[in-house]
Amino acid sequence: MTVKRVGVVGSGIMGSGVAEVAAKAGFEVVLRSRAQASADAMVAGLEKSLAKQVDRGKLEDADRIAVLGRVRAVSDLGELAECDLVLESIVEDLPAKRHLFTELDRICGDAAILATNTSTLPVVEMAMQTGRPDKVCGIHFFNPASAMALVEVVRSITSSDETIAEARAFAEACGKTVVDVRDQAGFIVNALLFPYLNNAVRLLDAGVATRDGIDAAMKGGCNFPMGPLELLDLVGLDTSLAILDALYDEFKDPNYAPAPLLKRMVSAERVGRKSGAGFYDYTKK
Ligand SMILES: NC(=O)c1ccc[n+]([C@@H]2O[C@H](COP(=O)([O-])OP(=O)(O)OC[C@H]3O[C@@H](n4cnc5c(N)ncnc54)[C@H](O)[C@@H]3O)[C@@H](O)[C@H]2O)c1
Repeated sequence: MTVKRVGVVGSGIMGSGVAEVAAKAGFEVVLRSRAQASADAMVAGLEKSLAKQVDRGKLEDADRIAVLGRVRAVSDLGELAECDLVLESIVEDLPAKRHLFTELDRICGDAAILATNTSTLPVVEMAMQTGRPDKVCGIHFFNPASAMALVEVVRSITSSDETIAEARAFAEACGKTVVDVRDQAGFIVNALLFPYLNNAVRLLDAGVATRDGIDAAMKGGCNFPMGPLELLDLVGLDTSLAILDALYDEFKDPNYAPAPLLKRMVSAERVGRKSGAGFYDYTKK
């Protein structure tokens, strides 16, 4: 295991979560957000999360201080130059990710591994923006990163065995169970999960059942911890739409064609928990 310093790009739901997991696992973490204010807000969020864990007896206070000491939040991408592994967690948008990989390739040392947390986009498209396509792979954490056991390690056709081994070692050091998967849209989990989530929106839109009825049915009838509409709100409706678009683009399977209601909700900026409203209202909680 040669990775010691990890760069995380993007301070949204996943970037923040992965930064916390990696710092708790003992890695030095450089978290990059485009605006210093969001980088600082992420550190404030991390402080709150760790303090809660201490209150609940799940973390020693000394460990809380040590974890915070390992995280540096920055706005300058150049600060990632010394990282052994950079995991990007920016918006699910291929042009934005491609641009970022070009920049990371320019900034990072030759030996650094550049990884993406994409849910569905082709890893090879990011790899080919760099002069090191063998050192690019997917490291797909799940939401919330601190609680979910799985990481999908995604091998693009250009990824080397060494890169995959390093990615696996990193995810395992973060305490995760690793599953290997080829670079195909949706990998395993989202390829299977998203037709189900999409069809839940269609049922709602068709008036077959209410929001609460659909969520209660899947929790009570399938023993799922969350209903599909609650889960879409957690993932983010904008991210979910991008995932479905990428799946549909790859397979042209009508099950992946985004439900019109999902598109309309994203247009209305009702994108779930992170915006305060989605299928549920979070402003009153
Ligand atoms: N939300 C989930 O459940 C989930 C789970 C696993 C993986 N992912 C993946 O993680 C990545 C991030 O998702 P998220 O849920 O954290 O999203 P988010 O909306 O919470 O955060 C996205 C971040 O990207 C930044 N950003 C937007 N445009 C950018 C650009 N052009 N350049 C640089 N940064 C930009 C935003 O400022 C924000 O910090 C996506 O690739 C997504 O598919 C999401």
